[in-house]
This record gives sequence, C-alpha cells and structure tokens, in this order.
Amino acid sequence: MERIPEPELMEQWEQARAYALADFSEPHDAFVRHFQRLFPVFAQGRVIDLGCGAADVTIRFARAYPQSTLVGLDGAEAMLQLGQEAVARAGLDSRIDLRQLRLPAAGIGRDYDAVISNSLLHHLAEPATLWEAVARAARPSAPVLVMDLLRPASRDAALTLVRLHAAEAPPVLARDFFNSMLAAYRPDEVRKQLRAAGLMHLDVEIVSDRHWLVCGHV
Ligand SMILES: C[S@@+](CC[C@H](N)C(=O)[O-])C[C@H]1O[C@@H](n2cnc3c(N)ncnc32)[C@H](O)[C@@H]1O
Repeated sequence: MERIPEPELMEQWEQARAYALADFSEPHDAFVRHFQRLFPVFAQGRVIDLGCGAADVTIRFARAYPQSTLVGLDGAEAMLQLGQEAVARAGLDSRIDLRQLRLPAAGIGRDYDAVISNSLLHHLAEPATLWEAVARAARPSAPVLVMDLLRPASRDAALTLVRLHAAEAPPVLARDFFNSMLAAYRPDEVRKQLRAAGLMHLDVEIVSDRHWLVCGHV
C-alpha cells in the first residue's frame, strides 16, 4: 500500500486534547523499556525529545532517569501547552524544558547525551528532516532511539489494528491512529533514509504488530 501523508503539526485543539488525554502507557512505557534494554550503560545526561507532543514519553523518560534533564521540541502550540501542563502536574518543571520549534530548525546544537523521538517521523513530509536533527543534536557516541508506526500492508490490515488497539478510543483518536498508520514508513524505507543521511550505525527493529524502532549510537 502506498503511503498517504497526513498534516505535519497537530495544531487542532480537539485533536491535541484527545491525544493528551489518551492512555498511551503501553507503547510509551515500552519505549522507555527499549531504551533501558538497548543502552544499559546510560544513566544520566542531557536528553532531547524530538516531536515531544504532550510530553508523555518525555515525562516517563524523566521518571526512569532521575539524574537526567530533558528538552522537548514540538512545532504545535496546542500540544506543547498540554505538555507544559502535564510536566507541571508531574512536578518536573525543573528537569523538562519544552520549546516550540518546527523542524527543520537551525537552533539545535550538538549538546545532547541521548536523542529520543516517538511517532514524529510519519508526520514529516520530508523524512530527512528527522535524521538531520538526530545527527545534529547527538554528541559523539550518544544513544539514539526513534520509534514509530509501521505502515500495514493494506487499509483492511490498518482497520484490524484500529479495532484491536483503539476500539474504546474516542473517534478523533481512532481516526488519527488509522491515518497515522497509512502515513507511516516501512522498515525498508527507513533503512534507505538512514543510508541517505549517513547514519549507517543505526539499526531498524520491528518491536510490535504496529511499531518499529531505530536504535544505535551516532
Ligand atoms: C503523534 S505526535 C507524537 C508526540 C509524542 N512524541 C508522543 O509520543 O506522544 C507527533 C508530534 O510531532 C509534532 N510535529 C510534526 N511535525 C513536526 C515538525 N516538523 N517539527 C516539530 N514538531 C513536529 C506534532 O505537532 C505532534 O505533536
């Protein structure tokens, strides 16, 4: 099935609120566990979360690594505002700094001991945008973990996954999940993107019925 792009930024309030209220504990805790499994030596540092949205992964990561500080970047004001509220509720304002920035952006320096990103790539019209930001942000040998959806083989397969994982979700969220799967990249496409970006040391691994991850050191 051909990829069907979706809008880059999640700027609509209804969409952002549904996303921020949703229970993503399963995939987002899995994201943190994958990081712990893949990078057992990492204990602390300055971490950047690209496309942090409402900061749910950012917060879970901060709790798992209490000695770390995080910068979360996102281009959408609505998502960031909800993220800022979630960070305040979690009492993590002193360790999580959320910034409104739309990639590609010049303002990212090679300042980070780890780079993480969840569910950003499928939003990007030009996927090289993410890989350039990863390469620009990561200090030498910094761990990188990027996770995203896997485009199913057909619309029917995508609908089956919606029924399986979003049967109880509000309609706006179920629709977004469906559209996001159609917009997602497949592992062979991601491998090509990594080669084109010169990120040969990063590997692609399928980790669930709907997710792949890219991991390694830059
Ligand atoms: C599906 S959400 C994922 C949010 C978060 N990482 C999570 O896992 O909950 C994707 C986020 O990427 C943001 N985004 C999309 N394109 C972007 C760009 N070019 N620059 C910055 N953020 C972008 C959207 O606004 C949205 O908040």
